[in-house]
Amino acid sequence: MKLILLGAPGAGKGTQAEFIEKKYDIPSLSTGNILREAVKNGTPVGLKAKAYMDAGGLVPDDVIIGVIKERMQAPDAQKGFILDGVPRTLAQAEALESMGVDIDLVLDIEVSDENIIERLSGRRVCEKCGASYHTVFKPSQKPEVCDRCGGRLIIRKDDEPETIKARLAAYHEQTEPLIDFYKQRGKLVEIEGSYSVEKTTERIFQALEALR
Ligand code: AP5
Repeated sequence: MKLILLGAPGAGKGTQAEFIEKKYDIPSLSTGNILREAVKNGTPVGLKAKAYMDAGGLVPDDVIIGVIKERMQAPDAQKGFILDGVPRTLAQAEALESMGVDIDLVLDIEVSDENIIERLSGRRVCEKCGASYHTVFKPSQKPEVCDRCGGRLIIRKDDEPETIKARLAAYHEQTEPLIDFYKQRGKLVEIEGSYSVEKTTERIFQALEALR
C-alpha cells in the first residue's frame, strides 16, 4: 500500500500516520521529521534546509526529492509506505511519477485555517523522542513531560504565530494545487479532519478498507 497524506500544516497528518502505520504495518516517511533530524545533526541537507524551515517556507524541491528518493529505497519501505508531508509542490508530485512511484490513494485531511492555528499554537513536542502532544486535545500526563520517554516538552520553533502564518500561506499557494492534480488521476479522497482524532481515524480507515 502506497499512500500520501495531504493537508495543511497541523491538519493531523503525523497524528493519523501513526495509526495507519500500526494497523497496516507500513512505515511513515515524513520529510518534516527527516529534515528536523538533519538540522539537529548539522548534515549538509540540514544546513540547506534550516533557514527555510525556520521562516515557514518550503525547502527547495531538489533537496526534498533527493531526501525522499533515498528514504523510499530503505528495506522497510519496500512493502509500502505513507508519505507524510510530501509531495508539497507540483514539481515534487511529478518527480514521484517520473520515479515510477505508483500511489494507491491520497488522503486529503481538510481542516479550516482557524482550527489549524488553534492546533499548532497548542502543540508541544518532546525534544528527546519527538512525540507530539496538545495542551488541550492531547495533554501529557505530567505538564511539560513526555509520557513516552520522560523528555522535556517544547514548542516547535516553526509553531510561533508569525511562522504559522507563513506556513499556511505556503500551503495555500504551493501545496493546495495538488488536490486537483490527484483528483484528475482519480486518487484523491477528502477526509473531513475538523472532528476528533478518533473520528478522523475512523474515516481514514473506511477509505483504506475500500481499497482492499
Ligand atoms: P512538517 O513537519 O511536515 O510540518 P507540517 O506539514 O507543517 O505538519 P505538521 O507536523 O506541523 O502537522 P501535522 O499535519 O503532522 O499535524 P499533527 O499531527 O502534528 O514540515 C516542517 C517543515 O519542513 C515545513 O514547513 C518545510 O519547511 C519543511 N518541509 C517538510 N516537508 C517538505 C516538503 N515536502 N517540501 C518542502 N519543504 C518541506 O497535529 C498538530 C497538532 O494538532 C498536534 O498537537 C495534535 O495533537 C493536534 N491534533 C491532531 N489531530 C487533531 C484533531 N483531530 N483534533 C484536535 N487536535 C488534533
